[in-house]
Amino acid sequence: MELRINSERLQESLAELGQIGTIQSEYPGISGVCRLALSEEDADARRLVIGWMKRENLEVSIDQIGNIYATGPGRDNTLAPIMSGSHLDSVPTGGRFDGALGVLGAIEVVRTLNDHNIVTRRPLTIAVFTDEEGCRFATDMLGSAVATGRIQLADAWRLCDTDDISVKSELERTGFLGDEQVGQRRPHAFIECHVEQGPVLRHEGYDLGVVTGVQGISWQRLTIIGSPAHAGTTPTGFRRDAGLTAAKINIRIREMCLSGNYGSDMRATMGVVRPEPGSINVIPGRVVATVDLRNPVDDAMLAAEADLREFLKEIADIDGVTIESEQTARTPAVSFNTATQATIASVADTLSLRHRPILAGAGHDAQEWSRVCPTAMIFVPGENDGISHNAMEFSTPEQCANGINVLLNTIFTLAEESS
Ligand code: GLV
Ligand code: MN
Ligand code: MN
Repeated sequence: MELRINSERLQESLAELGQIGTIQSEYPGISGVCRLALSEEDADARRLVIGWMKRENLEVSIDQIGNIYATGPGRDNTLAPIMSGSHLDSVPTGGRFDGALGVLGAIEVVRTLNDHNIVTRRPLTIAVFTDEEGCRFATDMLGSAVATGRIQLADAWRLCDTDDISVKSELERTGFLGDEQVGQRRPHAFIECHVEQGPVLRHEGYDLGVVTGVQGISWQRLTIIGSPAHAGTTPTGFRRDAGLTAAKINIRIREMCLSGNYGSDMRATMGVVRPEPGSINVIPGRVVATVDLRNPVDDAMLAAEADLREFLKEIADIDGVTIESEQTARTPAVSFNTATQATIASVADTLSLRHRPILAGAGHDAQEWSRVCPTAMIFVPGENDGISHNAMEFSTPEQCANGINVLLNTIFTLAEESS
């Protein structure tokens, strides 16, 4: 029997959640969200979703890093559960689907099973992970990384945002500092449905992607220190302009991407450039900037990191500035479990959906769980060239329903496995 979700109900939930932290896109009527991790908006979203979980009679537990787990019993509760979920936080210019689809999709799976009075052999756990985006506290996949042991809880608690507010104090303030010990959960499998956040599936006419893995990510924060001085009176040769150095680094990382020396898929972004004092007539004396490097090949990433380090030394000398670099996040390329990918592909075939294997360009909570249990992801295509981290992010109700129908039947299949 193939089960089908209630697509209208899923859309209603997505719309309701999308009201929390709404921002307008540049196109009238199209909205996204700003729900920075552990902000008031994030907390409101969490409370809404917990209400929906409880309505399905799930038992909700919150761990010490604020991850939410909602579990429904199976026929044999001695067996490890199937876990599915994602995140509710967003980047400042977030879409309504990034993360939200994975959480609300998992809830829709449980609602559908409950509609049919189906109790699976294994228990099911829906998870919401804290701070997947990493843009507020400088490291991504924070909650899932702590839950799976890559980041220590005490280190995570100490992380601060740009206003020096710590993760721990925000967990306390929002009421999401739970008492469940981190690192205890060992699911039978972890499955996450997510929007692709890129153009490939839509352009090639596929209904969904079976995700093969995630590329490597390397984040660093640079502090460039020059000397603030008068914009009008300081001759060019006397300047130590931290803003100029930041610009040169930005151009360099683009040249590295285009060089082909680090494979054809290196990506690099300087997403933060904060000059100080930030005055029209003062040469920037200090710049805080970030560099985000992505590469599917670990050796190529290592080479890019090493060459960038060399460049920073050279350019600091030439420009008469100092550059401090702090690595704020780093994850290697990850491959997902091939048997779990095959299960997803075969479910998609049964539902007559066109699919292809695809590598994830973004970071995902699933990559952390792949160290703990068989893990895979389902990608849903997006309109507007799959634009994401943008309020224009949009997947049609049909695209969402296809992905969540595959999630439902994959979970159902895995939940009947005895070993
Ligand atoms: C998360 O969305 C990331 O890949 O930065
Ligand atoms: Mn995401
Ligand atoms: Mn994201």
